[in-house]
Amino acid sequence: MKILVTGGTGYIGSHTCVELLDAGYEIVVIDNLSNSKIEVVDKIKEITGKDFKFYEGDCCDKNILVKIFNENDIDAVIHFAGFKAVGESVLKPLKYYRNNLDSTITLLEVMNEFNCKKIAFSSSATVYGKPETLPIKEDFPLSTTNPYGTTKLMIEDILRDLYVSDNEWSIAILRYFNPIGAHKSGLIGENPNDIPNNLMPYIVKVATKELECLSVFGNDYDTKDGTGVRDYIHVVDLAKGHIKAIEKVLKDTGVDAYNLGTGNGYSVLEIVNTFMKVNNIDVNYKITDRRPGDIDACYADPSYAKEKLNWEANLGINEMCEDAYNFVKNFKEDK
Ligand code: NAD
Ligand code: UFG
Repeated sequence: MKILVTGGTGYIGSHTCVELLDAGYEIVVIDNLSNSKIEVVDKIKEITGKDFKFYEGDCCDKNILVKIFNENDIDAVIHFAGFKAVGESVLKPLKYYRNNLDSTITLLEVMNEFNCKKIAFSSSATVYGKPETLPIKEDFPLSTTNPYGTTKLMIEDILRDLYVSDNEWSIAILRYFNPIGAHKSGLIGENPNDIPNNLMPYIVKVATKELECLSVFGNDYDTKDGTGVRDYIHVVDLAKGHIKAIEKVLKDTGVDAYNLGTGNGYSVLEIVNTFMKVNNIDVNYKITDRRPGDIDACYADPSYAKEKLNWEANLGINEMCEDAYNFVKNFKEDK
Protein backbone atom coordinates (compact mmCIF):
# COMPACT_ATOMS: atom_id res chain seq x y z
CA MET A 1 0.00 0.00 0.00
CA LYS A 2 1.33 3.42 -0.96
CA ILE A 3 0.39 6.45 1.12
CA LEU A 4 0.89 10.07 0.07
CA VAL A 5 1.82 12.16 3.10
CA THR A 6 1.40 15.92 2.63
CA GLY A 7 3.35 18.04 5.11
CA GLY A 8 5.41 14.91 5.81
CA THR A 9 8.56 16.73 6.93
CA GLY A 10 6.64 18.65 9.61
CA TYR A 11 6.40 17.76 13.27
CA ILE A 12 3.50 15.28 13.28
CA GLY A 13 4.00 14.27 9.64
CA SER A 14 7.60 13.15 10.16
CA HIS A 15 6.66 10.94 13.12
CA THR A 16 3.80 9.48 11.09
CA CYS A 17 6.15 8.73 8.17
CA VAL A 18 8.32 6.72 10.58
CA GLU A 19 5.35 4.74 11.87
CA LEU A 20 4.04 4.12 8.34
CA LEU A 21 7.42 2.84 7.12
CA ASP A 22 7.84 0.71 10.26
CA ALA A 23 4.38 -0.76 9.66
CA GLY A 24 5.39 -1.79 6.12
CA TYR A 25 3.65 0.93 4.10
CA GLU A 26 5.36 2.62 1.17
CA ILE A 27 5.20 6.40 1.35
CA VAL A 28 5.52 9.41 -0.92
CA VAL A 29 6.00 12.77 0.76
CA ILE A 30 5.24 16.29 -0.42
CA ASP A 31 6.18 19.38 1.57
CA ASN A 32 6.99 22.95 0.54
CA LEU A 33 9.38 23.26 3.51
CA SER A 34 7.63 26.45 4.66
CA ASN A 35 7.80 25.19 8.24
CA SER A 36 10.25 22.29 8.14
CA LYS A 37 13.70 21.37 6.93
CA ILE A 38 14.87 19.10 4.12
CA GLU A 39 17.19 17.30 6.60
CA VAL A 40 14.11 15.62 8.07
CA VAL A 41 13.86 13.42 4.97
CA ASP A 42 17.24 11.84 5.77
CA LYS A 43 16.40 11.56 9.46
CA ILE A 44 13.26 9.56 8.65
CA LYS A 45 15.35 7.29 6.39
CA GLU A 46 18.00 6.93 9.11
CA ILE A 47 15.46 5.94 11.79
CA THR A 48 13.61 3.43 9.63
CA GLY A 49 16.36 2.21 7.30
CA LYS A 50 13.84 2.63 4.46
CA ASP A 51 13.78 4.79 1.36
CA PHE A 52 10.96 6.89 -0.09
CA LYS A 53 10.30 9.62 -2.66
CA PHE A 54 10.20 13.23 -1.52
CA TYR A 55 8.71 16.02 -3.65
CA GLU A 56 9.48 19.59 -2.66
CA GLY A 57 6.30 21.37 -3.69
CA ASP A 58 3.13 23.13 -2.68
CA CYS A 59 -0.21 21.39 -2.34
CA CYS A 60 -1.88 24.51 -3.78
CA ASP A 61 -0.05 23.69 -7.03
CA LYS A 62 -2.21 21.30 -9.01
CA ASN A 63 0.59 20.46 -11.46
CA ILE A 64 2.87 18.89 -8.88
CA LEU A 65 0.02 16.89 -7.36
CA VAL A 66 -0.93 15.57 -10.80
CA LYS A 67 2.74 14.68 -11.39
CA ILE A 68 2.85 12.78 -8.07
CA PHE A 69 -0.32 10.83 -8.85
CA ASN A 70 0.94 10.08 -12.38
CA GLU A 71 4.28 8.84 -11.11
CA ASN A 72 2.99 6.84 -8.12
CA ASP A 73 0.07 4.51 -7.50
CA ILE A 74 -1.34 6.24 -4.44
CA ASP A 75 -3.84 4.22 -2.39
CA ALA A 76 -4.62 6.82 0.29
CA VAL A 77 -3.53 10.24 1.52
CA ILE A 78 -2.73 11.67 4.94
CA HIS A 79 -3.09 15.43 4.71
CA PHE A 80 -1.00 17.33 7.27
CA ALA A 81 0.08 20.27 5.08
CA GLY A 82 -1.18 23.57 6.43
CA PHE A 83 -0.33 26.54 8.59
CA LYS A 84 -1.05 26.14 12.31
CA ALA A 85 -0.17 29.24 14.33
CA VAL A 86 -3.35 30.51 16.01
CA GLY A 87 -2.00 34.02 16.78
CA GLU A 88 -0.62 34.55 13.28
CA SER A 89 -3.95 33.46 11.80
CA VAL A 90 -5.66 36.34 13.62
CA LEU A 91 -3.16 38.82 12.15
CA LYS A 92 -3.01 37.27 8.67
CA PRO A 93 -6.33 35.51 8.08
CA LEU A 94 -6.05 35.52 4.28
CA LYS A 95 -2.72 33.70 4.45
CA TYR A 96 -4.45 30.96 6.46
CA TYR A 97 -7.62 30.75 4.39
CA ARG A 98 -5.59 30.71 1.17
CA ASN A 99 -3.09 28.05 2.19
CA ASN A 100 -5.21 25.70 4.28
CA LEU A 101 -8.30 25.75 2.07
CA ASP A 102 -6.61 25.98 -1.32
CA SER A 103 -4.16 23.14 -0.58
CA THR A 104 -6.99 20.90 0.60
CA ILE A 105 -9.40 21.64 -2.25
CA THR A 106 -6.65 21.21 -4.85
CA LEU A 107 -5.59 17.93 -3.26
CA LEU A 108 -9.19 16.63 -3.16
CA GLU A 109 -9.75 17.58 -6.82
CA VAL A 110 -6.65 15.72 -7.92
CA MET A 111 -7.51 12.71 -5.75
CA ASN A 112 -10.95 12.65 -7.38
CA GLU A 113 -9.43 12.80 -10.86
CA PHE A 114 -7.21 9.82 -10.06
CA ASN A 115 -10.04 7.95 -8.32
CA CYS A 116 -8.15 7.88 -5.03
CA LYS A 117 -10.89 8.56 -2.48
CA LYS A 118 -9.32 7.66 0.85
CA ILE A 119 -8.00 10.36 3.14
CA ALA A 120 -7.12 11.07 6.75
CA PHE A 121 -7.18 14.77 7.59
CA SER A 122 -5.46 16.66 10.42
CA SER A 123 -8.15 18.54 12.26
CA SER A 124 -7.88 19.90 15.78
CA ALA A 125 -9.62 20.05 19.13
CA THR A 126 -9.89 23.76 18.37
CA VAL A 127 -13.09 22.94 16.42
CA TYR A 128 -14.86 22.43 19.78
CA GLY A 129 -14.47 26.16 20.59
CA LYS A 130 -15.22 26.65 24.28
CA PRO A 131 -16.76 23.31 25.29
CA GLU A 132 -19.54 23.49 27.88
CA THR A 133 -18.67 20.20 29.53
CA LEU A 134 -15.69 17.86 29.71
CA PRO A 135 -14.44 15.41 28.55
CA ILE A 136 -15.06 16.35 24.93
CA LYS A 137 -16.93 13.90 22.72
CA GLU A 138 -16.99 13.94 18.94
CA ASP A 139 -20.68 14.90 18.78
CA PHE A 140 -20.21 18.12 20.79
CA PRO A 141 -21.23 21.35 19.02
CA LEU A 142 -18.53 22.76 16.75
CA SER A 143 -17.42 26.39 16.66
CA THR A 144 -14.19 28.30 16.41
CA THR A 145 -12.56 31.35 17.92
CA ASN A 146 -9.86 32.18 15.36
CA PRO A 147 -9.23 31.96 11.58
CA TYR A 148 -6.93 28.93 11.95
CA GLY A 149 -9.70 27.02 13.71
CA THR A 150 -12.21 28.20 11.13
CA THR A 151 -10.07 26.73 8.33
CA LYS A 152 -10.17 23.36 10.12
CA LEU A 153 -13.93 23.50 10.57
CA MET A 154 -14.47 24.61 6.96
CA ILE A 155 -12.34 21.71 5.72
CA GLU A 156 -14.30 19.29 7.91
CA ASP A 157 -17.50 20.62 6.28
CA ILE A 158 -15.98 20.28 2.80
CA LEU A 159 -15.08 16.66 3.56
CA ARG A 160 -18.57 15.90 4.88
CA ASP A 161 -20.14 17.51 1.77
CA LEU A 162 -17.81 15.53 -0.45
CA TYR A 163 -18.95 12.26 1.08
CA VAL A 164 -22.62 13.23 0.68
CA SER A 165 -21.96 13.90 -3.01
CA ASP A 166 -20.11 10.64 -3.57
CA ASN A 167 -20.23 7.86 -1.01
CA GLU A 168 -17.25 6.05 -2.46
CA TRP A 169 -15.14 8.42 -0.38
CA SER A 170 -13.58 7.19 2.83
CA ILE A 171 -12.61 10.00 5.16
CA ALA A 172 -11.15 10.06 8.68
CA ILE A 173 -11.19 13.45 10.37
CA LEU A 174 -8.62 13.33 13.16
CA ARG A 175 -9.05 15.91 15.91
CA TYR A 176 -5.73 16.20 17.69
CA PHE A 177 -5.45 17.45 21.24
CA ASN A 178 -2.01 18.78 22.32
CA PRO A 179 0.86 16.84 20.74
CA ILE A 180 4.22 17.14 22.50
CA GLY A 181 7.36 14.99 22.85
CA ALA A 182 9.54 13.54 20.14
CA HIS A 183 10.83 10.29 18.68
CA LYS A 184 13.03 8.32 21.14
CA SER A 185 15.98 8.49 18.72
CA GLY A 186 16.17 12.26 19.27
CA LEU A 187 16.46 12.66 15.48
CA ILE A 188 13.05 14.22 14.81
CA GLY A 189 10.91 16.48 16.96
CA GLU A 190 9.74 20.06 17.27
CA ASN A 191 12.11 22.98 17.62
CA PRO A 192 10.64 26.17 16.16
CA ASN A 193 13.12 28.84 15.04
CA ASP A 194 10.94 31.68 16.25
CA ILE A 195 9.76 32.34 19.78
CA PRO A 196 7.39 29.43 20.40
CA ASN A 197 3.67 29.96 20.92
CA ASN A 198 3.05 26.59 22.49
CA LEU A 199 3.88 25.49 26.00
CA MET A 200 6.32 22.60 25.55
CA PRO A 201 8.61 24.20 22.94
CA TYR A 202 8.76 27.28 25.19
CA ILE A 203 9.64 25.23 28.29
CA VAL A 204 12.41 23.50 26.35
CA LYS A 205 13.92 26.80 25.20
CA VAL A 206 13.94 28.08 28.77
CA ALA A 207 15.61 24.85 29.91
CA THR A 208 18.32 25.26 27.24
CA LYS A 209 18.72 28.94 28.24
CA GLU A 210 17.72 30.23 24.79
CA LEU A 211 14.86 32.03 26.51
CA GLU A 212 14.94 33.48 29.99
CA CYS A 213 11.63 32.73 31.61
CA LEU A 214 8.37 30.98 30.86
CA SER A 215 5.22 33.05 31.32
CA VAL A 216 2.48 30.91 32.83
CA PHE A 217 -0.62 32.52 31.36
CA GLY A 218 -2.91 32.88 34.36
CA ASN A 219 -3.37 31.02 37.64
CA ASP A 220 -6.98 31.98 38.26
CA TYR A 221 -8.67 29.46 35.97
CA ASP A 222 -11.29 27.12 37.32
CA THR A 223 -8.86 24.16 37.38
CA LYS A 224 -6.99 22.06 39.97
CA ASP A 225 -4.20 24.62 40.53
CA GLY A 226 -5.62 27.61 38.63
CA THR A 227 -3.45 27.12 35.52
CA GLY A 228 -4.81 25.93 32.17
CA VAL A 229 -5.48 22.23 31.70
CA ARG A 230 -4.89 20.41 28.40
CA ASP A 231 -4.80 16.88 27.05
CA TYR A 232 -1.12 16.44 26.11
CA ILE A 233 -0.45 13.48 23.85
CA HIS A 234 2.91 11.99 22.90
CA VAL A 235 3.50 12.65 19.19
CA VAL A 236 4.48 8.99 18.66
CA ASP A 237 1.13 7.85 20.06
CA LEU A 238 -0.56 10.39 17.80
CA ALA A 239 1.43 9.11 14.81
CA LYS A 240 0.32 5.55 15.58
CA GLY A 241 -3.30 6.79 15.53
CA HIS A 242 -2.78 7.64 11.85
CA ILE A 243 -1.83 4.04 11.06
CA LYS A 244 -5.12 2.91 12.57
CA ALA A 245 -7.01 5.63 10.71
CA ILE A 246 -5.41 4.59 7.41
CA GLU A 247 -6.30 0.94 8.05
CA LYS A 248 -9.87 2.10 8.59
CA VAL A 249 -10.14 4.26 5.46
CA LEU A 250 -8.55 1.55 3.33
CA LYS A 251 -11.18 -0.92 4.56
CA ASP A 252 -14.46 1.06 4.80
CA THR A 253 -16.17 4.00 3.15
CA GLY A 254 -17.81 6.86 5.06
CA VAL A 255 -16.85 10.04 6.85
CA ASP A 256 -16.20 10.12 10.58
CA ALA A 257 -14.36 12.24 13.15
CA TYR A 258 -12.17 10.88 15.95
CA ASN A 259 -10.63 12.54 18.99
CA LEU A 260 -6.95 11.69 19.25
CA GLY A 261 -6.13 12.50 22.86
CA THR A 262 -5.30 10.59 26.02
CA GLY A 263 -8.34 11.59 28.07
CA ASN A 264 -6.07 13.00 30.82
CA GLY A 265 -5.87 16.69 31.60
CA TYR A 266 -2.66 18.18 33.02
CA SER A 267 -2.17 21.75 34.19
CA VAL A 268 0.62 24.05 33.03
CA LEU A 269 2.31 23.74 36.44
CA GLU A 270 2.06 19.94 36.39
CA ILE A 271 3.82 19.93 33.03
CA VAL A 272 6.52 22.37 34.18
CA ASN A 273 7.16 20.43 37.41
CA THR A 274 7.25 17.07 35.63
CA PHE A 275 9.66 18.48 33.05
CA MET A 276 12.00 19.73 35.79
CA LYS A 277 11.83 16.45 37.70
CA VAL A 278 12.38 13.96 34.87
CA ASN A 279 15.11 16.04 33.22
CA ASN A 280 16.67 17.17 36.46
CA ILE A 281 16.83 20.77 35.29
CA ASP A 282 15.37 24.12 36.41
CA VAL A 283 12.84 26.04 34.36
CA ASN A 284 12.35 29.67 35.36
CA TYR A 285 8.75 30.70 35.27
CA LYS A 286 6.50 33.50 36.40
CA ILE A 287 2.75 33.83 36.57
CA THR A 288 1.42 36.46 34.15
CA ASP A 289 -1.99 37.55 32.84
CA ARG A 290 -4.19 35.14 30.96
CA ARG A 291 -3.54 34.83 27.21
CA PRO A 292 -6.59 36.19 25.35
CA GLY A 293 -8.73 33.44 23.84
CA ASP A 294 -7.46 30.64 26.12
CA ILE A 295 -9.96 28.33 27.79
CA ASP A 296 -9.76 26.83 31.29
CA ALA A 297 -9.58 23.20 30.34
CA CYS A 298 -9.74 20.94 27.32
CA TYR A 299 -9.44 17.17 27.29
CA ALA A 300 -10.79 14.37 25.17
CA ASP A 301 -13.07 11.46 25.64
CA PRO A 302 -10.95 9.16 23.43
CA SER A 303 -13.29 6.15 23.69
CA TYR A 304 -14.70 6.48 20.16
CA ALA A 305 -11.22 6.15 18.61
CA LYS A 306 -10.63 3.12 20.80
CA GLU A 307 -13.90 1.53 19.74
CA LYS A 308 -13.73 2.33 16.02
CA LEU A 309 -10.00 2.48 15.29
CA ASN A 310 -8.73 0.17 18.01
CA TRP A 311 -6.30 2.90 19.03
CA GLU A 312 -5.40 4.40 22.37
CA ALA A 313 -2.49 6.43 23.68
CA ASN A 314 0.03 4.62 25.87
CA LEU A 315 2.80 7.06 26.74
CA GLY A 316 2.58 9.28 29.82
CA ILE A 317 3.76 12.81 30.60
CA ASN A 318 7.12 11.62 31.98
CA GLU A 319 8.06 10.26 28.55
CA MET A 320 6.58 13.29 26.80
CA CYS A 321 8.76 15.65 28.87
CA GLU A 322 11.90 13.47 28.60
CA ASP A 323 11.63 12.99 24.85
CA ALA A 324 10.90 16.66 24.12
CA TYR A 325 14.10 17.68 25.95
CA ASN A 326 16.18 14.83 24.55
CA PHE A 327 15.40 15.92 20.98
CA VAL A 328 16.42 19.52 21.53
CA LYS A 329 19.62 18.55 23.38
CA ASN A 330 20.50 16.27 20.47
CA PHE A 331 19.60 18.94 17.94
CA LYS A 332 21.89 21.50 19.63
CA GLU A 333 24.78 19.01 19.84
CA ASP A 334 24.36 18.42 16.09
CA LYS A 335 25.00 22.10 15.28
P1 NAD B 1 4.11 21.57 10.99
O1 NAD B 1 4.10 23.01 10.62
O2 NAD B 1 5.31 21.05 11.70
O3 NAD B 1 3.88 20.66 9.69
C1 NAD B 1 3.11 21.09 8.59
C2 NAD B 1 3.97 20.88 7.35
O4 NAD B 1 3.22 21.27 6.20
C3 NAD B 1 5.25 21.72 7.35
O5 NAD B 1 6.35 20.88 7.09
C4 NAD B 1 5.04 22.73 6.24
O6 NAD B 1 6.26 23.06 5.60
C5 NAD B 1 4.07 22.02 5.33
N1 NAD B 1 3.18 22.85 4.52
C6 NAD B 1 2.41 23.90 4.92
N2 NAD B 1 1.69 24.36 3.89
C7 NAD B 1 1.99 23.58 2.82
C8 NAD B 1 1.55 23.54 1.48
N3 NAD B 1 0.67 24.42 1.00
N4 NAD B 1 2.07 22.60 0.67
C9 NAD B 1 3.00 21.72 1.11
N5 NAD B 1 3.45 21.71 2.37
C10 NAD B 1 2.93 22.63 3.22
O7 NAD B 1 2.79 21.29 11.83
P2 NAD B 1 2.37 19.98 12.66
O8 NAD B 1 2.37 20.34 14.08
O9 NAD B 1 3.09 18.81 12.18
O10 NAD B 1 0.84 19.90 12.21
C11 NAD B 1 0.40 19.07 11.14
C12 NAD B 1 -1.07 19.28 10.92
O11 NAD B 1 -1.76 19.01 12.15
C13 NAD B 1 -1.45 20.72 10.54
O12 NAD B 1 -2.50 20.66 9.60
C14 NAD B 1 -1.93 21.31 11.85
O13 NAD B 1 -2.86 22.35 11.65
C15 NAD B 1 -2.58 20.11 12.52
N6 NAD B 1 -2.64 20.21 14.00
C16 NAD B 1 -1.49 20.44 14.70
C17 NAD B 1 -1.57 20.57 16.09
C18 NAD B 1 -0.33 20.85 16.91
O14 NAD B 1 -0.49 21.27 18.07
N7 NAD B 1 0.88 20.63 16.40
C19 NAD B 1 -2.80 20.45 16.75
C20 NAD B 1 -3.94 20.20 16.00
C21 NAD B 1 -3.85 20.07 14.60
N1 UFG C 1 0.81 28.36 28.06
C1 UFG C 1 1.51 29.11 28.98
N2 UFG C 1 2.65 29.74 28.56
C2 UFG C 1 3.11 29.65 27.28
C3 UFG C 1 2.38 28.89 26.34
C4 UFG C 1 1.22 28.26 26.78
O1 UFG C 1 1.13 29.21 30.15
O2 UFG C 1 4.14 30.28 26.96
C5 UFG C 1 -0.41 27.65 28.52
C6 UFG C 1 -1.68 28.07 27.80
O3 UFG C 1 -2.27 29.17 28.45
C7 UFG C 1 -2.52 26.78 27.87
C8 UFG C 1 -1.47 25.67 27.84
O4 UFG C 1 -0.24 26.28 28.22
O5 UFG C 1 -3.17 26.71 29.12
C9 UFG C 1 -1.30 25.06 26.45
O6 UFG C 1 -1.07 26.08 25.50
P1 UFG C 1 -0.55 25.77 24.02
O7 UFG C 1 -0.35 27.09 23.35
O8 UFG C 1 0.59 24.83 24.07
O9 UFG C 1 -1.77 24.96 23.37
P2 UFG C 1 -3.29 25.37 23.17
O10 UFG C 1 -4.12 24.39 23.92
O11 UFG C 1 -3.52 26.79 23.43
O12 UFG C 1 -3.45 25.17 21.59
C10 UFG C 1 -3.01 24.00 20.94
C11 UFG C 1 -2.61 24.30 19.51
C12 UFG C 1 -3.82 24.69 18.70
C13 UFG C 1 -4.87 23.65 18.83
C14 UFG C 1 -5.19 23.38 20.28
C15 UFG C 1 -6.16 22.25 20.41
O13 UFG C 1 -1.68 25.36 19.45
O14 UFG C 1 -3.48 24.77 17.35
O15 UFG C 1 -3.99 23.02 20.98
O16 UFG C 1 -5.68 21.14 19.75
F1 UFG C 1 -5.98 24.08 18.19
